[in-house]
Amino acid sequence: MSTGSGITGGAAPPRQVILDCDPGIDDAMAIAFGCGHPALELRGITTVAGNVSLELTTANALAVLDFAGRGDIPVVAGSPAPLLRPVLDGADVHGESGLGGARLPPAGQRARAGHAVDFLIETIGSAPGEIVLVATGPLTNIALAVRREPRIVSQVADFVIMGGSAGRGNITPAAEFNIFWDPEAAAVVFGAGWRVTMAGLDVTLQALATAEVRERMAGLGRLGSELLLPVLGGYRRQVELPGGDPPVHDVCALALVTEPGLFGCRPARVEVETAGRLTAGMTVTDFDAAGPNALVAESVDVSGFWDLVLGAYARLPAAGVPASRPPQP
Ligand code: RIB
Ligand code: CA
Repeated sequence: MSTGSGITGGAAPPRQVILDCDPGIDDAMAIAFGCGHPALELRGITTVAGNVSLELTTANALAVLDFAGRGDIPVVAGSPAPLLRPVLDGADVHGESGLGGARLPPAGQRARAGHAVDFLIETIGSAPGEIVLVATGPLTNIALAVRREPRIVSQVADFVIMGGSAGRGNITPAAEFNIFWDPEAAAVVFGAGWRVTMAGLDVTLQALATAEVRERMAGLGRLGSELLLPVLGGYRRQVELPGGDPPVHDVCALALVTEPGLFGCRPARVEVETAGRLTAGMTVTDFDAAGPNALVAESVDVSGFWDLVLGAYARLPAAGVPASRPPQP
């Protein structure tokens, strides 16, 4: 595991990333960012159920990669359900397909055979100190991987999640969705001995896709008209969109890997509540504790964030193809 901040930006060789995700509107936008930014090389995508079923999250990951021109990146499916609890579906937020209003062509390629947990263990173990593991969905695959092969905790270059909150939750007053979906898995992950860089709601609800941002997306050809804007427009539940501007939670996790200087983070001890009737999934965050196990992101340079993200999107082939219909920002 890295000794310093572990996360560096700049002209270094691309950061090798495995993204474990549950596409999902914002997961899809994170995948597109990962495909577009030259400082990142997606070594693979592993999928977990969460926003929608495993079958749909896997199909969505394949479709977004294909649309982004990166059908070469392997996708490996993982856990269809939490470790202990019943499946909770997020289609009320992400739409029945999981991609909001986007209707992407089905991917040409299929998911790779095998299980996500084995892909994670084998790929990370084959390149100790090189792979940044990023998780933007429930942590079920990650928990199973650290249980099956504890050495990955020291083999990763860094471990970054979108999840949790030092303050209010979004699926309950106490818990954020990814953690709430599988609190036992999250407890295993936060207790595994590595440092978890946590891009939680404290920071992700600052990076909203305002009308100005959506206007800039409208200038990105088919990428804007067929992915970014319809995906964003498909957020169903407005609980997080008081002003109507949608958050892009998961993109923050990859942006943190790419340009950490845009974020303000503090060390903390984070423990996951698993027993509370009202507080299950709460990430209890103590910034004063000795022996921190997490780096908690609390602030972001919003203008710099959107320049970074939209700059990466502009590099994708689909951004250069004129939209077939006028985009609706
Ligand atoms: O709470 C936001 C998180 O839950 C994001 O990862 C979103 O995709 C959903 O999974
Ligand atoms: Ca997600």
